[in-house]
Amino acid sequence: MKPIQVGLLGIGTVGSGTFNVLRRNQEEIRRRAGRGIEIHSVFARSIERARKVVGDDVKVVTDANEIISNPEIDIVIELIGGYEIAKTLVMQAIAAGKHVVTANKALLAVHGTEIFAAAREKGVMVAFEAAVAGGIPIIKALREGLTANRIEWIAGIINGTTNFILSEMRAKGLDFAVVLKEAQRLGYAEADPTFDIEGVDAAHKVAIVSAIAFGVPVQFEKAYVEGITKLQAADISYAEQLGYRLKLLGITRRRDTGIELRVHPTLVPSKRLIANVEGAMNAVLVHADAVGTSLYYGKGAGSEPTASAVVADLVDVTRLHTADPHHRVPHLAFQHDSLATTPI
Ligand code: HSE
Repeated sequence: MKPIQVGLLGIGTVGSGTFNVLRRNQEEIRRRAGRGIEIHSVFARSIERARKVVGDDVKVVTDANEIISNPEIDIVIELIGGYEIAKTLVMQAIAAGKHVVTANKALLAVHGTEIFAAAREKGVMVAFEAAVAGGIPIIKALREGLTANRIEWIAGIINGTTNFILSEMRAKGLDFAVVLKEAQRLGYAEADPTFDIEGVDAAHKVAIVSAIAFGVPVQFEKAYVEGITKLQAADISYAEQLGYRLKLLGITRRRDTGIELRVHPTLVPSKRLIANVEGAMNAVLVHADAVGTSLYYGKGAGSEPTASAVVADLVDVTRLHTADPHHRVPHLAFQHDSLATTPI
């Protein structure tokens, strides 16, 4: 069977990771997907920079419409990030009948309801494993592995940059600004790191997992959000002396009044597993009625860990599309129910 054709929008940190993983593991990926997956074209602002990643074999375009309007392309991967341009391109791709794979948590947290409605209407898939906790397959765990359960709460370290900053400040006594620069250099931080350090990125992610776990619309705007910018070295060392670690947690849980959504620095007893999650690692605790508490741990940011999730979605979408190009896939859309989301 002819390989499925993919258009890649963005060839930065995650885009280049995606390209490299697809190329390096192409045989395994072909076997698992049931057919080859080929990058048809890449949209980039700079042809020269894109060429450094993709070489001369792949078409590079500076007009994304060349990908969106190309009938040979079945799947569009959106790795541009941000709200406006990404939203326009994702909506255009859906309207053109293409499946979308995205790592864009900001986009889904703010425009998810509209995007998923458009995808349902058109009968295409929007897959977003890479949007939450990088390489940890938390979306698939919630949607597939835990699907028999009533989920009670989720609490996690879901921003690698802030966990890296807090860890380095505690272990090495380094200055906040110095560690933030290092997180940027390592490709963990967002283009605008304010989203990381003010807790916004974690709130985007917790709003997405909350929607999946509890079947509510994505309601990022109702989350309580507090980042780590007000923390000082003294807070970290006092916490340590009292037997705690400071962690930026994203928390969502069922309450009688609705669903709670919050992100803030939290004192976690030092002996807990989650207190010992260091560096850019992420960890997500899920408490559910049948399985009890389970913990998902792994690399939450960075080029190839995030690419791992993007490519997993690509394989999923390829399999489902190949089985039936016109099918609708309800498990790739949120199912809304009547629960109201409430802030704390
Ligand atoms: N800036 C994000 C983080 C990238 O630090 O977790 C992964 O979503």
